[in-house]
Amino acid sequence: MHFITQLDFDQIPAHLLLSRSQVEEQLPQVTLYQSNGDVYKADWYRVYTCDAALTHYIKELMPFEIQYVEYVISDRSIPMHRDLGRVRALNYVLETGGIHVATRFYNDEQRVMLEYVCDTHTWYELNVGAYHSVAEPQPNPRFLLSVTPQDGVTYLLEDVAKTGTPGQIRTDISYSSV
Ligand SMILES: [Fe+2]
Repeated sequence: MHFITQLDFDQIPAHLLLSRSQVEEQLPQVTLYQSNGDVYKADWYRVYTCDAALTHYIKELMPFEIQYVEYVISDRSIPMHRDLGRVRALNYVLETGGIHVATRFYNDEQRVMLEYVCDTHTWYELNVGAYHSVAEPQPNPRFLLSVTPQDGVTYLLEDVAKTGTPGQIRTDISYSSV
């Protein structure tokens, strides 16, 4: 199974990026949901909708349609999970959180298949339809951009609103088996 691939897209110009504190102060936070439809409250894992300038830049950079451009800040390890609502993510790490904050990928039987340490300011495509986890960031929070390509979306929040089907709302970590 294919888990992670480094992509050769350009580095993002520094003037388009916000610092972690600017993200926390300036951008709207994305509401996360549990698989039963309840709001997921995790003060240690925060997702923010990216500003218009950077969103525009990334949409021009990528040769395919983009659904979401988000900043993610996590203070703790992210347990094994599969993302809800998407199977592909294009991640760009701004701050790793530590020296060896590895992303692990697992097979369907939840056995570790790959441990990967992402470089900063480098684009990666991740198979987030596979089980994956992220090690504890030490000593700082982990800070990254996560882009969802349209063809990696398996369902949208709007669709859920129409059908009223609970448990089908885009979020990252609530569908955890641990
Ligand atoms: Fe994830």
